[in-house]
Amino acid sequence: MQTAEIHRRWLDFFAKREHTVVPSASLVSDDPTLLFTVAGMVPFVPYLTGLVPAPFPRATSVQKCIRTLDIDEVGKTPRHGTFFQMCGNFSFGDYFKEQAITFAWDLLTTPETDGGLGFDPKDLWVTVYEDDEEAREIWRRVAGLPEERIQGLGMDTNYWSTGQPGPAGPCSEIFFDRGPAYGIDGGPATDDDRYVEIWNLVFMQYLRGEGTGKGDFEILGDLPKKNIDTGMGLERVAFLKQGVENMYEIDQVRPVLDRAAELAEKTYGAVHEDDVRLRVIADHVRSALMLMSDGVTPSNEGRGYILRRLLRRTVRAMKLLGVDHATFPELFTVSRDAMKAAYPEVASDFARISQLAYAEEETFLRTLVAGTGILDTAVANTQRAGKKELAGDTAFLLHDTYGFPIDLTLEMAEEAGLSVDRRAFDTLMTDQRTRAKADAKAKKTALADLSVYSAFRALGETVFTGYTELQTESSILGLIVDGAAVPTATEGQIAEVILAATALYAESGGQDADAGTIVGPGYELEVLDVQKPVKGLISHKVLVRNGEVGVGSPATSLVDGDYRRGARQAHSGTHIIHAALRQVLGPNAHQSGSYNKAGYLRLDFSWNQALSAETRTEIEEISNNAIRKNLEVSTRELPLAEAKALGAMALFGEKYGETVRVVDIGGPWSRELCAGTHVTSSAEIGMINLVSESSVGSTNRRVESLVGLEAFRDLAVERTIVSQLSGSLKTPREQLPEKIADLLASLKTAEKRIAAFEARAVLDKVPSLLDGAARHGAVTLVASDAGTLNSADDLRLLATTVRERLGSDPSVVALAARVGEKPVVIVATNQGARDAGVNAGTLAKTASGVLGGGGGGKADLAQGGGADIDAIPAALSAVTSAIGG
Ligand code: SER
Repeated sequence: MQTAEIHRRWLDFFAKREHTVVPSASLVSDDPTLLFTVAGMVPFVPYLTGLVPAPFPRATSVQKCIRTLDIDEVGKTPRHGTFFQMCGNFSFGDYFKEQAITFAWDLLTTPETDGGLGFDPKDLWVTVYEDDEEAREIWRRVAGLPEERIQGLGMDTNYWSTGQPGPAGPCSEIFFDRGPAYGIDGGPATDDDRYVEIWNLVFMQYLRGEGTGKGDFEILGDLPKKNIDTGMGLERVAFLKQGVENMYEIDQVRPVLDRAAELAEKTYGAVHEDDVRLRVIADHVRSALMLMSDGVTPSNEGRGYILRRLLRRTVRAMKLLGVDHATFPELFTVSRDAMKAAYPEVASDFARISQLAYAEEETFLRTLVAGTGILDTAVANTQRAGKKELAGDTAFLLHDTYGFPIDLTLEMAEEAGLSVDRRAFDTLMTDQRTRAKADAKAKKTALADLSVYSAFRALGETVFTGYTELQTESSILGLIVDGAAVPTATEGQIAEVILAATALYAESGGQDADAGTIVGPGYELEVLDVQKPVKGLISHKVLVRNGEVGVGSPATSLVDGDYRRGARQAHSGTHIIHAALRQVLGPNAHQSGSYNKAGYLRLDFSWNQALSAETRTEIEEISNNAIRKNLEVSTRELPLAEAKALGAMALFGEKYGETVRVVDIGGPWSRELCAGTHVTSSAEIGMINLVSESSVGSTNRRVESLVGLEAFRDLAVERTIVSQLSGSLKTPREQLPEKIADLLASLKTAEKRIAAFEARAVLDKVPSLLDGAARHGAVTLVASDAGTLNSADDLRLLATTVRERLGSDPSVVALAARVGEKPVVIVATNQGARDAGVNAGTLAKTASGVLGGGGGGKADLAQGGGADIDAIPAALSAVTSAIGG
């Protein structure tokens, strides 16, 4: 049975049983405590906790998930995939244990011909949480399972939560027995390769608190309702139904594995290590494809870092299979074709996705080449020193600068018969992590404990009034100092303020936080920053300028009007430049990031070559034209599906069913989903002045622009500079370029003439050097000190001229000079001398040895040098002795 067919049967089965079919949410979770959607229930967490009333009593979905915690297990076991799809059915206070178990048993054991999954009941086992007698009894009664195929297990396996504070509950898992060929008897309690978990039924009825690991957390109390959250692993069921050995061999994954094997000229199934690598490749390519399709781009932090890791691990696995060239163009196309039936967007968005993937592969391959060079040198030095262990700091440098994973270094060192100083490496890594953590702490809320915010968020969403008001009366809901809620804050203190409603815009969607103040009876607060630490909650970081502020007191938020005007100009300007860019470059120029604040904006977009001056001007022209036309700017709120149907440029991570805000400039001319603050008509922007265009990594470009008054001021500065130049060069401004070109040309001519004079002065030394010529056997030698010269080139000119003057008898010229406080030596030989066995390279080396440096070159002309000026006479004598004098 194809994976897509299992997918379809699942949704059908539950739709027929009154479940609302909910499309998969993005892999990018909008829960701030989770990097990715890790389970089918993640999009439903607010309904499970009761924070938001569920819009339906029952739901079903097939959710895209990513888990990378066990990334090292990928390829080694039959079931560890980083990307997987979880089929789920959910009840929000509707049915509970008995119905959930009945549904699961029916779908699994109904014959394939009747629309079920056709498992034989005698192959199925279940586990229950140790003291859950109720579940045990239902399994016996509903499924007729014998007592010995119902096993009780502890909290670490049969009590489910996302690993974070939130909904939790005991669970019951269903396993498939693959038979004695795969392991020992004894049920899931004894062996998880033979007994494969296929479905987890969670009886979600408690709220868990903090804790360190599985089974080690506090239960804070009951959820408002008893819910059901189940998850069936689509890949696991697929591999069992398709009669293959593991999830890497199913129809959605295997084609990539086969193509990788073909490229590497390997036979899958022949060598265990190679098989693991092929499975890693097949898994990671698919995961990366799906992540990029949900808008993740490779970077050095957070989600982007995990994506980068998947891509690099794939390149590395190919390399370990012996393939050094780019393979992503093959592998990603195959993966796209295997996934597009279930996810058409991977095909329609493939141009953008593949551009990202291919560029990342190219970059990493180059890095690998550079890193391999470093490693080879380090290996050679280690061997020369008679050591058997590569230094930890070399391994760290390779990791830190060249992105070499430590196991690659280990493997490559091993090939050369060396081990690696792991202890030193690990220490360096720990130090770096500690530094990174300290850094992140200093930045906003990157790693902060969010529970203090979640508590305020539970009181309700902060109302943002700033689209229409610059001043809003409200009250202080909370004060936070050093991460803890406090009742008051006094003059001089820095605190965070939570208001019921605020006119101040929190940094988001690329727009920086508003500037302003918060005032109330007896206090005045200066706003330093405004953030949304958790979705729906606005927190103001303030300095208490005077007085004392307490929770509950009235508070008026006041936006600095000048700042806001500038911010609106900049944000609308960003949309205009984005539209202009796409008009000029086409739809592949997709925004990948942006930042704007009063007077300034920057926009990053996927594009891999520099924009020409003409293209920049064209983009600027289109943008300023859109301003001049005074296009109307309008905003409206719509359901996501409607907004997309209108062609609004969606970013990623918007959720099904969500209401989104659409910002139009000139109707469809620019249409984006955006929550920022905007001008009401484009002329208010004033002016756009593109000041720079540069690269951000290998796949993105960045344009920066000034807007409004700042744009004008920058041009005014240029005008001043131009008029100064015009004054000092006594040239009208339109003739300045020509004038400067003339000046540069005559400067060049003058430099050439000076060089010619200097060369003549150098050549003046030739006669006296020729006077010093002496015979040594058959060879004529000039070995002299030429004094102080400007460059080694002058010395070379001198040496070759003397050689020429000496004629065709065997002759050698060895000249030394001081160039910039350093000794330089040049040796030149003619044909006759070379026929007599004299080599300039060897002589230069001899002289350099005496000078305390190195040298070399060809048999006819060679150069050397060193550090010891006083050794010049000795170096020349060494050459003379070498000739045999
Ligand atoms: N949340 C449970 C799991 O992920 C069941 O959906 O296993």
